[in-house]
Amino acid sequence: MIKKTIVCVTAFAFLAGFTASAMAETDKGGAELVLQATVDKAAKPKPATFPHKKHQDSGITCGECHHTKGADGKQAAYTDGMKIEKCESCHNKAAGLPKEIATFKDAAHTNCKGCHKDKGKGPTKCADCHKGSTDKE
Ligand code: HEC
Ligand code: HEC
Ligand code: HEC
Ligand code: HEC
Repeated sequence: MIKKTIVCVTAFAFLAGFTASAMAETDKGGAELVLQATVDKAAKPKPATFPHKKHQDSGITCGECHHTKGADGKQAAYTDGMKIEKCESCHNKAAGLPKEIATFKDAAHTNCKGCHKDKGKGPTKCADCHKGSTDKE
């Protein structure tokens, strides 16, 4: 009886430790994000609400949004456990990327609205992402 308890406690400690380290490997980020440009800000800030977890849970892979930059300065694909940088650390005016992805606004509109349009799912109207916005469309 005593022996069994010890085995059980050890197994539990092992599993708990294993789960914790597996979770530490892939940080999935916050569940609900409020995105706001901080470098190339519009005159009037326009925060966008973004249900991050809902997207992850609906089968959209990390790499459909996250990527990085290779040594050649070109886009490099997402790899498991890679460091996630802010979009704006690369997509800002000073970096001189193509017009349709030059700023956080442009990169986000291309990525977010692009997918919503392609899939015919997800919002494309301004106020759906920018809560309280009175812009049309
Ligand atoms: C699918 C979601 C989504 C839709 C729809 C959308 N946006 Fe955005 N927008 C974003 C995200 C994400 C950003 C980048 C973060 C930020 O600055 O808000 C952004 C950024 C912006 C910015 C820059 C804000 C700043 O402070 O620099 C403006 C201006 C803007 N959007 C206007 C619009 C207008 C006008 C429409 C409708 C024609 C629209 N957006 C539709 C998600 C969206
Ligand atoms: C539909 C697009 C999308 C998908 C899918 C997605 N992310 Fe994100 N994620 C974002 C955006 C946008 C941000 C905010 C980036 C910024 O602030 O510039 C973000 C931020 C993060 C952050 C930074 C911490 C935080 O909460 O701001 C981590 C970590 C992260 N994501 C991990 C993941 C992982 C791991 C997956 C896959 C399991 C994933 N993301 C799937 C769009 C996505
Ligand atoms: C480490 C730098 C870096 C980060 C961080 C980054 N990008 Fe990019 N992104 C690039 C580069 C480089 C390209 C390719 C530019 C070119 O074609 O000239 C690119 C291309 C794109 C494109 C056009 C090609 C495509 O895949 O559709 C979109 C849209 C985009 N990024 C959105 C985002 C979003 C949204 C985020 C944040 C979730 C983000 N990027 C984070 C560097 C980055
Ligand atoms: C690769 C595809 C894809 C990308 C990229 C994507 N979305 Fe979505 N989004 C979806 C789909 C699919 C839905 C519908 C989910 C559902 O109805 O269950 C959705 C739904 C939403 C909703 C509505 C959620 C709700 O509760 O009704 C918001 C807000 C949203 N997306 C914002 C964004 C923003 C902001 C970005 C960019 C940072 C983004 N999305 C990028 C596919 C995408």
